[in-house]
Amino acid sequence: MAKLLIAPSLLSADFGNIQRDCEMLNASKTDWYHIDVMDGVFVPNISYGMPVIAAMTKHSKRPMDVHLMIVQPERYIEDFKKVGADILTVHYEACTHLHRTLQQIKAAGMQAGVALNPHTPVSVLQDVIEDIDLVLIMSVNPGFGGQNFIRQAIKKVADARKMIDSSNSKALIEVDGGVNLETGAELVAAGADVLVAGSFVFKSDNPSETIAKLKAL
Ligand code: DX5
Ligand code: ZN
Repeated sequence: MAKLLIAPSLLSADFGNIQRDCEMLNASKTDWYHIDVMDGVFVPNISYGMPVIAAMTKHSKRPMDVHLMIVQPERYIEDFKKVGADILTVHYEACTHLHRTLQQIKAAGMQAGVALNPHTPVSVLQDVIEDIDLVLIMSVNPGFGGQNFIRQAIKKVADARKMIDSSNSKALIEVDGGVNLETGAELVAAGADVLVAGSFVFKSDNPSETIAKLKAL
């Protein structure tokens, strides 16, 4: 398997010092910037939108991995491309015409991902798995950083690994929520390719060192 990728979630960054935090990430073993967009409808919280993402992109030297926790994400695909998204992930639960939305993301020149809430089984991806670049398994209910890890996610990573390896899919498996060195190690053993970590990185005494430790899992 390819090397594990680490995607710190900027949701836990210091928004008053965003340039400083981006420079820390650029100087660390960060692989992707994980950008959480919440609309107060799909999830019970509002995070940030286009102008803030544009500011992060300006300071970022890594791919921008944008996780949309919004209803009808097809309305904003071009806008996210414009502010710098490289990978655009939509929620299965938020897309009536998921296949069409994925085609639109790719037509806009981005990689396409699908996120699954904790209650949604991996099996719903059977008929799009060869069309997507990323499966994002939520290991918390989306909406907030700093929540406890839901252990069922480990089994779901194994399910996704099986589905991908028995098809022509090249999708990466990303896990988001409650990731630390312990849960991260279990997720890697189950077949995860990308770990998102927000509070574990940004609330640690030495974020750059914490990223390096995750990278070494
Ligand atoms: C939750 C977001 C996550 C969040 C993870 O809805 O999708 O990316 O920032 O935060 P931690 O790592 O603190 O659980
Ligand atoms: Zn996320």
